[in-house]
Amino acid sequence: GRVAVFLGGDSAEREVSLKSGQAVLSALVSAGVDAYAVDVRGCLLKTVEEPEFDRVFIALHGRGGEDGTIQAILSQAGIPFTGSDVLASALAMDKLRSKYVFEGCGLPTPKFRAMASAEEAGSLLQSLSLPLSVKPSREGSSIGIRKVNSEQELVEAYTQAAALDPLVLVEEWIEGPEFTVSLLQDQALPAIGLCTDHVFYDYDAKYLADDTRYQIPCGLDPDSELKLQHLALDAFRVLGCRTWGRVDIMQDRQGEFWILEVNTVPGMTDHSLVPMSARAAGISFEELVVRILMDTLE
Ligand code: DAL
Ligand code: MG
Repeated sequence: GRVAVFLGGDSAEREVSLKSGQAVLSALVSAGVDAYAVDVRGCLLKTVEEPEFDRVFIALHGRGGEDGTIQAILSQAGIPFTGSDVLASALAMDKLRSKYVFEGCGLPTPKFRAMASAEEAGSLLQSLSLPLSVKPSREGSSIGIRKVNSEQELVEAYTQAAALDPLVLVEEWIEGPEFTVSLLQDQALPAIGLCTDHVFYDYDAKYLADDTRYQIPCGLDPDSELKLQHLALDAFRVLGCRTWGRVDIMQDRQGEFWILEVNTVPGMTDHSLVPMSARAAGISFEELVVRILMDTLE
C-alpha cells in the first residue's frame, strides 16, 4: 500500500521535522516503497479524511505529532503508524511525568520538582541545589531549556519556560558528559558521547554549530556502555515505548548515570544521532527506515 510520511507540523520543531521527514521519504522511495510527504498543518483531523494512504511514517517532532495526538487520530481511523502508541507518546513527551515514572520504577533520574509559579523559586531552592536545569516539560530539541545559578535566574528561566509550556520542570544540573542511546526493535544500538563547548547540548549545538563532537564508540569501557544501554532500554520499556526511540542520559563525575528523557520520534536528518548509531551497528539509513516502517501497528 501507499505510505504517507507525516512531516512539518505546527510545533516549535517544525524545521527539524521537515528535514527528518525529507530524509525518511528519500530513503523509503529509494527502497522502492510507494511513499509521499504530507505536511501536517492546521486541523489534524483533516489528515484522516478520505486518506490516500494506508500506512503512516510519523516524522513529526514535538507537540501534536510526538505527544499522542496524531497517534490517537490515526488509531481511531484504523491507520497503522510507526513508533509508540498514544499513552507512551504522551508520557515520553512530558519530561516531568516521565520522571515520576522513572522514579517510581527505581530508575535514576536527576532530583527534580515541578514549578507552578515564579513565587515558588525560594522554597524550591530549599529542596534542590544549584545549579539547576529549567525545562518546559513538553518541548523538544532543548527549546526553552536553561541552566540557572541563582534564584534570580531561576525566576527568569521559569518565566521563559512557562511561556512555552505551563508545566515547568526544574531538575538538578548534572555536569555531564551526555550520552544518547538509540533503540531499534528492542535492541540498544551503540551509544554516542556528546561533547560541546556550549553550556550544554542545546538547540544551536544540535543543529547549527559545527564544533559539536560526536563520539562513537562513546568512550566508555564495555561494561559501562552495556550498563548505559540497559538503562536506556529500561527507560524505554517503563514508558511503554515501541519500535524505536532515543534515550538521553547524563553521567556525573562519580560515573553514575542519570536518565533525562526518552524521545519517541527522534531526529532523522542525515546528521542525526539515531542514524549515526545505526550506521555504527552496520544498519544503513535506508534499512533503518524500512525496519521502523515494517514494525507499524496493525
Ligand atoms: N526532539 C529532537 C528531534 C530529537 O530528540 O532528536
Ligand atoms: Mg526530547
